Amino acid sequence: MIRSVRGVHDILPAEAGKWRRVERAAREVFEAYGYEEIRLPLFERTELFARGIGEATDIVQKEMYTFDDRSGESVTLRPEATAGLLRAYIEHGLHVLPKPVKLYTLGAMFRYERPQAGRYRQFHQLDVEALGDEHAALDAEVIAMLVELFRRLGLADRLSVEVNSLGDEASGCRPRYRTELVAYLRAHAAGLCEECRERAEKNPLRALDCKRPECRPVLDRAPALGAFLCADCTTHFARTREYLAALGVRHVVSPRLVRGLDYYVRTTFELTTAELGAQNAIAGGGRYDGLIKLLGGPPDPGIGFAVGVERVVQLLPDADREGSAEHRARVFVIPLGEAALKGVLPAATALRARGVAVEVGHGDRKLGRELERAGRLGVGHVVIVGEAELERGEAIVKEMKSGTQRAVKLGELVEALLALGGRA
Ligand code: HAM
Repeated sequence: MIRSVRGVHDILPAEAGKWRRVERAAREVFEAYGYEEIRLPLFERTELFARGIGEATDIVQKEMYTFDDRSGESVTLRPEATAGLLRAYIEHGLHVLPKPVKLYTLGAMFRYERPQAGRYRQFHQLDVEALGDEHAALDAEVIAMLVELFRRLGLADRLSVEVNSLGDEASGCRPRYRTELVAYLRAHAAGLCEECRERAEKNPLRALDCKRPECRPVLDRAPALGAFLCADCTTHFARTREYLAALGVRHVVSPRLVRGLDYYVRTTFELTTAELGAQNAIAGGGRYDGLIKLLGGPPDPGIGFAVGVERVVQLLPDADREGSAEHRARVFVIPLGEAALKGVLPAATALRARGVAVEVGHGDRKLGRELERAGRLGVGHVVIVGEAELERGEAIVKEMKSGTQRAVKLGELVEALLALGGRA
């Protein structure tokens, strides 16, 4: 037997209903805020992610599915959606559209991480990006929309919104902080794990994210970025928080919130839960004002987030699925014999064309067994056509619950079943 690859999961029909509910809610909420769907390729040139996400990040260093295709070009399965979406924005000249250009996309992402509960190698994101607008009111609107999605899913009370400002490269506040932080981390290297010491040199802000208890005393006393923010970044953050308050979005400032991708500046945020153990981030995002330019586009700012769908689905109660019932057969047609099967097929097709889900027997089983199957399928009605009925041009329509049955002309079968409406 060939099993699925480690860290990769099937979404079985019993779960798919919850996925549909999340996807439907996302589309409704995002579209209400003016976002349009964009569908993107699953793989891109490797260079896009190396440049976009950052050479020094864990994602680029250790987690990408990268391979040479048959022409020798290096391509990578997308580990996230932002870089590809911006590539499309630049490539198709979408920056000429009225700003902010608001786009969302849904789909699978790939990261070679150590699989554990809530962490997979193929996982799914709902990704949202608003491009070409740097107003702090947009930062707040994006966060409020994320919270609205979870309110719609009935999960808002189980999540907390954490926000932070990472300052800016261009204004110089983050480089100043980085210098200070590196000096501090080097001076306290003895109290840090191997990985933190390595990060201190390569990607110092990420060191703050280390979860090892032995590193916490040093990291907790590290200089905080907030104290280094320049006047513009300070104002932007304060205004973002004012708009969040005006929108009624409760949030906490989390000075240690650093993200795993290098492109962020200023506002960053995460939606976290206490219910999923170590993988506590349900969604994360932030502003990336220099990224579009870095990827060869215009100097447009941008902000966005991605939601981890597996983690959302895990929080939803089992009852919270949609769609499976409406697709389960509502009518089971039981022809008895080959001639009856052929005689009744057009009616089954006509019913399906009118939106009724129909299951048709093959005509080769005994009536008792077919009725048993109808019971297991949970259909409302069965249509029985035996030789005698066929000769009279009729079918028997039987309501499963009450057991009552009546004869209906084959030519009137579709209308008769439709007339039974929701009970069909
Ligand atoms: P990220 O924080 O790397 O951000 O991922 C966003 C969310 O995807 C996480 O909060 C988590 O819920 C989910 N996720 C990430 N990795 C895994 C995994 N291995 N298994 C299951 N779920 C996972 C980004 O990807 C950015 N592109 C978000 C963004 C968009 N920033 C601006 N625009």
